[in-house]
Amino acid sequence: MKKRLIVGISGASGAIIGIKILKELMRCHNWESHLVVTKGGEKTINMETGYSLDEVKSMADVNYPIDDIGEAIASGTFKCNGMVIAPCSMKTLAGISSGYSDNLLLRAADVSLKERKKLALITRETPLSKIHLKNMMELSDMGAIIMPPVLSFYNKPKTIEDMTDHIVGKALDIFNIDYSRFKRWGQNNDRTSK
Ligand SMILES: Cc1cc2nc3c(=O)[nH]c(=O)nc-3n(C[C@H](O)[C@H](O)[C@H](O)COP(=O)(O)O)c2cc1C
Repeated sequence: MKKRLIVGISGASGAIIGIKILKELMRCHNWESHLVVTKGGEKTINMETGYSLDEVKSMADVNYPIDDIGEAIASGTFKCNGMVIAPCSMKTLAGISSGYSDNLLLRAADVSLKERKKLALITRETPLSKIHLKNMMELSDMGAIIMPPVLSFYNKPKTIEDMTDHIVGKALDIFNIDYSRFKRWGQNNDRTSK
């Protein structure tokens, strides 16, 4: 059986991060992607990227309607290797943190927590209010991995895409998926004196 990753795209800025994760999973023949997009996510895909919702959906192996909480990923019996929410809005973060699972993405995240599965949240907002910070703290305490898409400079990015790829690489690393466009520290540094 292939490994399965649930990919959630919610309405924070940075839908391209989720899209790049889906694209990479298409290249990984031993992985299957299971996609759920919130209404907010539909909006940001539209407003921020050159992709239509249908194009994004076509990148996933399996698609789920956000309003159908009866889908397979709503159950702890669904076999999978974890879930990434990329990007994760502050509203979705609050929903997960409070257990208020009123859509399929929130329910799948709730299930990931209760089943003690890997849950990576690419939480995007700035600045952060105390509510946001408290929700992140709460979820980190419960085992979720809080991964704000923070800029990095040590990898010498030249473009926004380089910066995005770094975040995608870090997110995929959580699930032991090697992203070819990810520059690891120490690996690509030219330290030769000759
Ligand atoms: C273009 C755009 C960018 C947004 N960026 C963010 C963001 O970075 N972080 C955030 O928490 N909300 C952001 N929002 C607001 C969320 O989309 C909004 O709170 C929405 O209700 C989230 O719902 P969802 O989590 O179900 O997708 C953005 C909205 C739009 C239209």
